[in-house]
Amino acid sequence: MVGLQWGDEGKGKVVDHYAASADFVVRCQGGANAGHTVWVDGRKMVGHLLPSGAFHPDPICVIGAGVVLDLESLCEEIDALNAVGLEVEKRLRVSRLAHLVLPYHKILDRGRDRLPSMGLPIGTTGRGIGPAYSDKMRRVGLRVGDLDRGESVVRSLLQARLEEMAPVMERQGMEYPDLEATLDLLLSLGNRLQPCFVDTGHLIREAIRTGRRVLFEGAQGTLLDIDHGTYPFVTSSTSSALGLGPGSGVPSRSIEHILGVVKAYATRVGEGPFPTEEKGAHGESLREKGKEFGATTGRPRRCGWLDLPALGYSVALNGIDALALTKIDVLGGQEGLKICVGYEDMSGNEIPFTPESHVLEEVIPIYEEMVGWPEQEVGSSELPEGALRYIERIESFVGVPVVFVGTGPDRNHSVLRHGGL
Ligand code: GDP
Ligand code: IMO
Ligand code: MG
Repeated sequence: MVGLQWGDEGKGKVVDHYAASADFVVRCQGGANAGHTVWVDGRKMVGHLLPSGAFHPDPICVIGAGVVLDLESLCEEIDALNAVGLEVEKRLRVSRLAHLVLPYHKILDRGRDRLPSMGLPIGTTGRGIGPAYSDKMRRVGLRVGDLDRGESVVRSLLQARLEEMAPVMERQGMEYPDLEATLDLLLSLGNRLQPCFVDTGHLIREAIRTGRRVLFEGAQGTLLDIDHGTYPFVTSSTSSALGLGPGSGVPSRSIEHILGVVKAYATRVGEGPFPTEEKGAHGESLREKGKEFGATTGRPRRCGWLDLPALGYSVALNGIDALALTKIDVLGGQEGLKICVGYEDMSGNEIPFTPESHVLEEVIPIYEEMVGWPEQEVGSSELPEGALRYIERIESFVGVPVVFVGTGPDRNHSVLRHGGL
């Protein structure tokens, strides 16, 4: 299950729906930059690192090798779920190969956009994602499995990193993390979670071999993918479905279905091209009605119309079999409803979607006006005629069926089509 836009498509709610019948729910990439929301009986639950299977009592929750793990954030999430009676620690499995997000990664990340040497501002979530993946790729990172190699090994690994970063951070006027405090934090959190640290690749491969149901939960979205997204305005992981194999340790041919999650309109948080963005009243009304404020940072999300050329790209790149369309209820009663069906350049020549940001910044969207429909009761199990036409337009453009339609934020607010998945 993967997001097809710029994140926040409603993946949490869709995963929660399918997790009811899953044995395992697996996160493969990203970190605490994700914010996946599910409303359960009027209570808001937000997962950052925990897979959205955590909101059901039974699925085994797995954090795979491709995730960058902030132990503090993970423990906070576990405690928050415990407080509402959902025990997850006993059914949590964390890859020993996953890299750790350390306090200095977060400090570097939060200072990033102030530094002229870093190029264009990106508006990251400040969760240390880019710096942690940089250390991983430079092959100097600390991994979960290092935590039980003894205090002296962890101290020397950490010391090497802090000594490297100290001059950089001092030069840039950033606060400097203390070695002993960082070490204590890592060892105590590591100690607490020690029983969860396992070979998750083997675990998932065995689960698949023995016919268990395994659901992989994407974080961020396809257009934020480090290689195939709108670089440099992307996250630092493979957030398309292409990252699923390396991030979890299973051969990609084991995957039976790839479900893409798409919001009925478009949103983006942070910087970067957004051809169908509505900066005026329409955007404001989508933000208000859709409650488009970040689940991780609380930032207002940029809003606009659904972009079918971009969606077609994501469907093709991921090999999507079926779509889950969320937030159709938000478009009920929306004035001036339209949908982007192509792009043209300044001279009126049609051009295809490209993730190259400098080109995408310049395209002019070609719109089709859509017949709207009156606002429905939130969570309605009937789709109005206009909404059905809207859904059919999406299906005919991208050639993939919409099997799940979200009609409200609650876990039960959905309608299945074509027999579901
Ligand atoms: P994710 O990151 O893809 O899991 O999405 P977020 O949780 O960040 O943002 C999606 C927001 O939309 C959350 O506030 C959800 O509660 C909400 N949501 C999800 N599906 C629906 C839906 O079908 N209708 C409405 N009105 N809200 C929805
Ligand atoms: P979920 O899983 C929306 C965006 C940030 C920023 C860029 C890079 O909830 O859909 P990062 O902190 O990853 O280095 O930030 O990516 N971003 C997201 N936007 N939803 C997310 O996750 C996001 N995770 C990162 O806003 O523009
Ligand atoms: Mg989110």
